[in-house]
Amino acid sequence: MVTTIGMLDSGVGGLTILRAIREQLPGQPVVYLADQAHVPYGVRKIEEVRGFTKEITRFLLAQGAKIIVVACNTASVAALGYLRAEFPETPFVGMEPAVKPAAEQTKTGVVGVLATYATFQTDVYNSVVERFAKNVTILQNHCPGLVNQIEKGDLSGSETRRILESALRPMLAQGIDTVVLGCTHYPFVIPLIQEIVGPGVRVIDPAPAIARQTQRLMTEKGWLADGIIGSEIRLITTGNAQNIENNLPLYLGYHLPIASIQWQDGKLG
Ligand code: DGL
Repeated sequence: MVTTIGMLDSGVGGLTILRAIREQLPGQPVVYLADQAHVPYGVRKIEEVRGFTKEITRFLLAQGAKIIVVACNTASVAALGYLRAEFPETPFVGMEPAVKPAAEQTKTGVVGVLATYATFQTDVYNSVVERFAKNVTILQNHCPGLVNQIEKGDLSGSETRRILESALRPMLAQGIDTVVLGCTHYPFVIPLIQEIVGPGVRVIDPAPAIARQTQRLMTEKGWLADGIIGSEIRLITTGNAQNIENNLPLYLGYHLPIASIQWQDGKLG
């Protein structure tokens, strides 16, 4: 039996997690939904994000997924508990900004966190900071406009650079030695971030840890495939398939076809 992994994000961000999952679990088929009709999630109300993710989960399960990776920090901190309650039979892998490892590793005691505005508002995020970063100074920035730049495929142009410099320069001036990427879109701009902060600052990309967590959960369930037969990736967007398809080599390093599906009265398909 081959188990399909369902993945969701507001857009292309979760592809950073897909890349890591493909590396870790090359034998597993994946169905990935990019909710580009609603991107960015980071400026939306929590209740709204919950509604989207509930319907997307239902859709992914109907497509044959047995485990759901919420490859989006905003959706995870807003909706993971809610989704687990709504779909008690389904295992979920979710994300929270990697504040804990950052707080353990920092030498200067100053850590920068880049995440969406919505993520910073949630109790889940604030409780992580409260529990694990008591003795550390946490500097936050929600990088307005950065998700849209990445969605457009602009990973290193002048506007993308301006957004990142205005987030990171003040953090550098206050002594950060670690940057946490608390949004799955942001690993696409790690080269630019690293160029701005310099080699002395560590940038934490959560993707490999999420892939390992997915593997652990699937091993527990006995759901790992032996070979790589049938390990297809199905990409589906609620937005314009052509736009994302053109930029895919930038995000994944290769081309893939993408299907599109429309929201109708709060339902998919
Ligand atoms: N990629 C998402 C995250 O990890 C959401 C970005 C957005 O849509 O605002 O938070």
